[in-house]
Parts: sequence; structure tokens; C-alpha cells
Amino acid sequence: MNDKITVLIDELCKNHGLTTDEYAYLIEYRDEESKQLLAERARQVREKIYGRDVFIRGLIEISNYCKNDCFYCGIRRSNKECQRYRLGKEEILACCKEGYQLGFRTFVLQGGEDAFYTDDILCDIIRDIKNNFSDCAVTLSLGERGRMSFECLYKAGAERYLLRHETADAKHYASLHPKELTLQSRLQCLRDLKEIGYQTGCGFMVGSPGQTIESLAKDLKWIEEFKPAMCGIGPFIPHHATQYAGEQPGSIELTCFLLSVIRLIHPGILLPATTALATLDTNGTEKGILAGANVVMPNLSPADAKEKYELYNNKAYNGMEAARNVELLKKRMETIGYQVVTDRGDVREAL
Ligand code: 5AD
Repeated sequence: MNDKITVLIDELCKNHGLTTDEYAYLIEYRDEESKQLLAERARQVREKIYGRDVFIRGLIEISNYCKNDCFYCGIRRSNKECQRYRLGKEEILACCKEGYQLGFRTFVLQGGEDAFYTDDILCDIIRDIKNNFSDCAVTLSLGERGRMSFECLYKAGAERYLLRHETADAKHYASLHPKELTLQSRLQCLRDLKEIGYQTGCGFMVGSPGQTIESLAKDLKWIEEFKPAMCGIGPFIPHHATQYAGEQPGSIELTCFLLSVIRLIHPGILLPATTALATLDTNGTEKGILAGANVVMPNLSPADAKEKYELYNNKAYNGMEAARNVELLKKRMETIGYQVVTDRGDVREAL
């Protein structure tokens, strides 16, 4: 670890921000020692705010229909091999019921951009979840919608929204998506969500095709400035029916390094150890938590939905990624000195 890295890490811990060039330097010249130091500091600040609690979210994949054709994604519109499904209200409520009994107090409704779910349909589902499980938070992860729609869903009771920005570099964004999708409109949605009052989550893949150290540095700078409540980052994993089938997956090591940096930028942020991390490495969840993550999102979807919601190859859903195996997750978190809690797990401001 050279002197400049030591200075940058100190600066990051003190001022919670660096210049874009400094982020790039930190990434480029990272080594074992700097990674460990960052992870240690990240655990310290996380512990001050959240203790050693790990929040869990029950992920319900409500639909794999999607009108978009993102080049990396297994449920993209043009993937004809994908068997499509969508869940109705009763099925979603049954998942919540099971999740509630297992100790989940947040339900995340995630899906492709499926026009079937109009505002009326979603508001009805959200109200029913809130009526039946009044001590639970509802998070939506349903892609881009109009501001009026976001407002309407918020009024119905949804309090959080996850919408990964995917990359803060407009050229990189354009290389990963068809031209109808723009970084500008993605970021506008994120600003709208935040203004409306949602606890808003952004995020990106690590190692997506065309990603560079400079684009990652832009992600960090953008996250620093946007101040999201949550940030989901996971390694890119190729999907066999996409043009990126032959690409290398992203790195676990770099993902964990970035988790530590993001924790230090925003000490009170909610950071999941993602399913993609668990998919690539059997100890991915532990590694994520030890790098500074404090959230895990086990899957509550019905069995056949889980199989069909295939964003990337071999997506994990049978081990501790399964909500029904939450006991296993609890044990494994205890082994590394952390505890899974039954709590809504709202974002807390930095101390
Ligand atoms: N590898 C890793 N993550 C992916 N996602 C989509 N496709 C892949 C893939 N091949 C992520 C995107 C999206 C989220 C729901 O899943 O970041 O926002």
C-alpha cells in the first residue's frame, strides 16, 4: 500500500468523498493491504450505526415479462427461451404470509417492466399487503415508470424503490442498452423517486462488458452526490441466451472492495450482499457482509417462478438465498459474528 493510498483512505473516512480521479486511483492501485484496511473501517462505521445486525428482505419476483431488451439480462424481451410468468395478488399475498412467519418485515416486489401491472393493479396489491402486514415495509423494484405512477404507488403505501442506475457513464449505459433506454431518463426516475419521498436505491453491476476503472469511479462519484438510501451492487454474470454469453463474470474481490468504499462514502446506507455475489461464490454473502454490507435479500417467490426468473446463469435460489432456509442464513451470519434480525430495517442517518 503506497502513501497516496493511505492518504486517500484517511480522506475518505474523514470527509466521505473523493474526486473522481481519486476514486479511480484507489480502484486501480488497490492491493491486499488497502482492501483489508477499507473493509475494517467499513465494518467499524457500519457497526456504529447498525451494530452487527443483518436486515433481511423477502424478494418476490412478481413477473418476468419485460418490455425492455437490455443486452445483459436473461429476461430481456427478445429472449424466446425464457418461459414467462406473472403472479396474481393472491399468490403475492401468500408469499408475504409465508415470509411474515419466517420473520421478514420487508417485502420487495421485483419484476420486469410488465405493462400488465397498471397503477390500479399495483396500488390494490400494495394496499392489501399493508392492510394485512401493517408492521412491514413494501419495496418496489419494477423499473422505470412515470412520476405520476411513482406518486400513486407511494400514496398506496410503498415506501422504498430500487432502480439500479447500472452505470453512471452515459456511453457505457448506451453500450449495454438499446437506444430507447437512456441514462438520462434512468437518473430522472431516481431523482423523482427521491423527491417523492421514497427510500431510494440505485446500484450497478461490477464487471459488466465495457466497464472501465473510469466508469466505476463515475459510479462512486455519482453515488456520493445522489445520496441514495440503498445501493445494490453485484458481479455481472453472463446469461447463456444473451450476446454476452461468452463474457467473463465480474470479480468478487472488486465487488467487495467497492462495497467497503460505498459504506465509507455513506456510513448509514443500506447495502445488500446480493444474490449475484452468492451465486458466484459459496461464501459470497459472508464476504459481502464482512466488506460492509448489512442486508440480505432471500427469495420468497414460488418455486417455479424462482426458476424462471433467470437474470443470469445459475442464479442461486436453493441455499441460503431461499427465504425458507433463513435458519441457515442465521447460522452462517452468527458464525461470522453477525445476527439476522426481525425488523423493517429502515435507513438510518449517519451518526
Ligand atoms: N448479471 C448480473 N446482474 C444482472 N442484472 C441483470 N442481468 C444481470 C446479469 N447478467 C441485474 C441488473 C438489474 C438487476 C435486477 O439485476 O443490475 O438492475
